[in-house]
Amino acid sequence: MASIKMIEHDGTEHEVAIEDGKSLMELATDNAIPGIDADCGGDCACGTCHVIVGSEWFPATGTANNDETQMLDMTPERETTSRLACQIKTTEAMDGMVVRLPEFQM
Ligand code: FES
Repeated sequence: MASIKMIEHDGTEHEVAIEDGKSLMELATDNAIPGIDADCGGDCACGTCHVIVGSEWFPATGTANNDETQMLDMTPERETTSRLACQIKTTEAMDGMVVRLPEFQM
């Protein structure tokens, strides 16, 4: 089973099964992962699905568009590999990917 590891700010780890074509945010909310609020439901309008992608996996997540970049600019814990989980379409090729969750969402 292909999966992605999501690590909460306190170190608690969760493995979520990849369902091809679903966004990382959808996988997180489907699995009730704490810390992914996803208030806008995936419209890239709230910034509450911020994740920090493991650097070796960052290229696999694609490129943030202007809307996502603007939302990330307002994110207090932004790092160089930050993405909005609703903008990452997952594929089986992401098996083993690790993402960290910030302490706070916006
Ligand atoms: Fe709102 Fe991702 S769910 S920006």
